[in-house]
Amino acid sequence: MLEQLEHLRQEAEAALAHASTTEATKAWHSEYLGRKGRLTAILRNLASLSPEERPQVGRVANEVKVALEQALEERQAALAQTELSAARSRQLVDMTLPGRPQTIGKLHPTTVTLREIYAIFTAMGFQIFDSPEVETDEYNFQLLNMPPGHPARDMWDTFYTTAPDQLLRTHTSPGQIHAMRAYAPNPVRVILPGKCYRYEQVTARSESMFYQVEGLAIGKRITFSDLKGVLTNFADQMYGEGRQMRFRKSYFPFTEPSVELDIECMLCGGKGCPICKYTGWLEILGAGMVHPIVLQNGGYDPTEFSGFAFGMGPERIALVKYGIDDIRYFYANDVRFLERVG
Ligand code: PHE
Repeated sequence: MLEQLEHLRQEAEAALAHASTTEATKAWHSEYLGRKGRLTAILRNLASLSPEERPQVGRVANEVKVALEQALEERQAALAQTELSAARSRQLVDMTLPGRPQTIGKLHPTTVTLREIYAIFTAMGFQIFDSPEVETDEYNFQLLNMPPGHPARDMWDTFYTTAPDQLLRTHTSPGQIHAMRAYAPNPVRVILPGKCYRYEQVTARSESMFYQVEGLAIGKRITFSDLKGVLTNFADQMYGEGRQMRFRKSYFPFTEPSVELDIECMLCGGKGCPICKYTGWLEILGAGMVHPIVLQNGGYDPTEFSGFAFGMGPERIALVKYGIDDIRYFYANDVRFLERVG
């Protein structure tokens, strides 16, 4: 029997070396080591041995079993490796190719512009003041010197909510009242950024949702020269010195006198083109000296205090800076635009 066992071991080892697939090793296992396999068949005869022979043969049989099991394991591991690399080469994966580049997100052009605006005004001592996007008729209009029925309300048609008198603000100017009421009777110097909404036709020049940055300075002896100085400094930093600008008289119910600031159209260099409606100028903001009634509504005595306010549209500012010809690109989510600008 010892001979039989030795013979079996040699034969099994030779056969295993020929098993060239995982499948074949499984068949090999049932032939030699399985319940109906050849080793079991030999061991069945153990009973016919004398009690002295039995332990010795049993021990050798066990050694053969352990050795074969180990050989099988090694063979299967080696085959798994070869099969894996074969599968890989069938799929033609070239592990030496460089990886695919990750696309890294970037800031939205409006965010970039807003941050530039914050940097310029905070350097001039303005603080950032938050005010709500959902307003009341009182804040959006009445406290800004536009009682119900005032014809100037037509400039700002808005979206109303289902709650009576609640609306989406049409400009950041109601924030002037919030800021004044928070600070009066102390001087204030704040900018108020945020989204605004208007119920109007969406065109290349106007969107129904856009940003504004309001500015407000209240104190004693603040004059129109201060307003001009601050805005000239802003435009010089935003667009680079030497860019032409002009203050043009205008009208807002909450400022007196009122102006608009125009910047030389950068698309045509001031010669006139469809974007600037052939004027050579692009309007970037409205401004003026805070109206005495508004000062009073904010809690200041207009005989003692004065101030200026302005409101600019960051998308407009970016439009002029980067020579973009359509405001609708900003919120159309076209990555080609978002990647190029800012
Ligand atoms: N709120 C005005 C607008 O939306 C802009 C403005 C702000 C004008 C502050 C004067 C002073 O058109």
